[in-house]
Amino acid sequence: MSDLAADRVRPLLRGGFGEPYLYVVETTSTQQLLSDTGLAEGAVAVAEHQTAGRGRLGRRWNDAPGRALLCSVLLRPPSAAKAEQLSLVIGLAVAETIDELAGVRTRLKWPNDVLLDGRKLAGILLARDGDAVICGIGVNVNQRDSELPRETTLAPDSLRLATGHDHDRGALLALLLDRLERRYGLWQAGGLEPMAPELDARDALRGRAVRVGEVKGTADGIDPSGRLAIRLVSGERLLVSSGEVVT
Ligand code: BTN
Repeated sequence: MSDLAADRVRPLLRGGFGEPYLYVVETTSTQQLLSDTGLAEGAVAVAEHQTAGRGRLGRRWNDAPGRALLCSVLLRPPSAAKAEQLSLVIGLAVAETIDELAGVRTRLKWPNDVLLDGRKLAGILLARDGDAVICGIGVNVNQRDSELPRETTLAPDSLRLATGHDHDRGALLALLLDRLERRYGLWQAGGLEPMAPELDARDALRGRAVRVGEVKGTADGIDPSGRLAIRLVSGERLLVSSGEVVT
């Protein structure tokens, strides 16, 4: 039985997230499985393989069947205006889960990448679905080197490559859902600000030369509303709310 099968994961769930739990061997995209369903907050879709996995900015997210964690979580945030902050909230949940289970120290590349030693371990994709937000999470877990995508802007990594052994994806998913539910509750109660110290401690960009579109400078942290601060050569500090950071 797969380590992601419902019978393996359900007994590991601690909170409300993960019910309903939709597990399939193959689908176009787990994002699609939750789209337009009217399911309750915390519903999760998981697949062993996606034939049309979606990445940010219209990119593809390719996988090696049975090796990665490919999941989507349905959230119904009260404030649509601040929903883009969720990629940082989820990023922290993914990072702390990986660190706890694999004994590593991951960092976040604003706004949606989880890195280990500068290589990408996981990515997060937010998609609006009416009042809901479908949060797609892809974690490179048990891929061998030859199974990682080559056509990426950031060099990829997997937990197997980093630690030298396979990891149980069901245990990873169950802990992630627990951490995500907790952080989502904190975010609903107090916004991003209480997580500022953790975001700062995990910030992979601070102090680095960066470019976002036409804006070039030095990354200077993440502001309380989740924007990336960039210090220009002129000394001015600009706040960027979306885009791809090139380092
Ligand atoms: C990115 O880094 O560009 C975001 C990648 C998000 C990939 C996940 S895998 C599960 C979910 N389903 C998808 O089609 N995409 C997300």
